[in-house]
Amino acid sequence: MRILTTIQEMRLACRQARHNAGADSSLALVPTMGAIHQGHLSLVEAAREECDVVAASIFVNPLQFGPTEDFARYPRTFDDDCAKFSAAGVDLLFAPAPEEMYPAGATTFVEVAKLSERLDGASRPGHFRGVATVVNKLFHIVSPDVAFFGQKDASQVAVLQAMVRDLNLPIRIAVCPIVREADGLAMSSRNRYLSPEQRTQALALCRALRHVEERIHQGETSAAILRAAAAEELSREPALRLDYIEIVDPNTLEPATSVVAGTLIALAAWVGETRLIDNLRVALAP
Ligand code: PAF
Repeated sequence: MRILTTIQEMRLACRQARHNAGADSSLALVPTMGAIHQGHLSLVEAAREECDVVAASIFVNPLQFGPTEDFARYPRTFDDDCAKFSAAGVDLLFAPAPEEMYPAGATTFVEVAKLSERLDGASRPGHFRGVATVVNKLFHIVSPDVAFFGQKDASQVAVLQAMVRDLNLPIRIAVCPIVREADGLAMSSRNRYLSPEQRTQALALCRALRHVEERIHQGETSAAILRAAAAEELSREPALRLDYIEIVDPNTLEPATSVVAGTLIALAAWVGETRLIDNLRVALAP
C-alpha cells in the first residue's frame, strides 16, 4: 500500500494505478476519518470485489465538527489503521494534513440544501456542509468510479447521493450494510469513548430498533405508533439521552406517516458525552 499525503501525489498515484491496471480498469474510493474498525474494512472488502484499484482516505475533517464537538479528541490511530488497510488490500491511502485540504483563505463550500438540515443535520448544524465539501474535494482528487459508504450514516448517504445527482458527478455511491458487534451494537469509531458500563447502556439503541422491527413483522405500519414504541423501549435505559427517532423516506429524509419496504428508521442518542446513531431499513412489505 502506498501512502500519499499531498493532493498532487495522490492525483498522480491514482492516474498511474489506473494506467497500470489497464484501459477499462475501475477505481474505488473508501473515504474515512480513521480509527478503522470492521465496518470500514467491510467497505474495503466490497470495493475490492467490485473494482480493480482501491483507494482509501484518512482525514479527520475539521469542517464537519461543531465548535463543541469531539474534533480534538477524535481517535487518531494512524499506524494501526495503515496496518489494517494494508492487510485488507487497499492500494493507495490518501492521508493529507488539514492545511493540505484547506489552505488558508478557502471560501468555497458544498451545501446540499434541505437534506442537510434533517436527522443528524438538525442536531449538528453545519455538519453536512463539512461532509459534502470534503467528499467533493476527495472525489475531485481521486476521481473514483465508485465510492463506498456505510448504511450506519444513513443521512450522510442521502446527502451524498443528492450531491452526486445534483452536480452530475460521474461516481456511483455504493452503500454497505451496518456491521454490528456480536451483541448488536453498531460498529463506530466513537464506541471507543464508551466505558464498559456505557457500552452496555448503548445496546438500548439496537434493542429499540429490533423491537420496532418486530412490531413491523407483527403488522404495525403506523409511523407514529412505531416511533412511540421505539421511544418507550429507549426510555427503559435511563442513562440514555435521546436526540431523535425519525421514520422517514431514505432519499428525501422527509417524515413518513406509515412504513413501507425501504423506509428508514433512524435514531440518535447520547450515552454520557458520546453521541451514537443507529438505523434500520424496513426489509419487508409489512
Ligand atoms: O463517514 C465519515 O467517516 C466521514 O463523514 C467522511 C465521509 C469520511 C467525510 O469526512
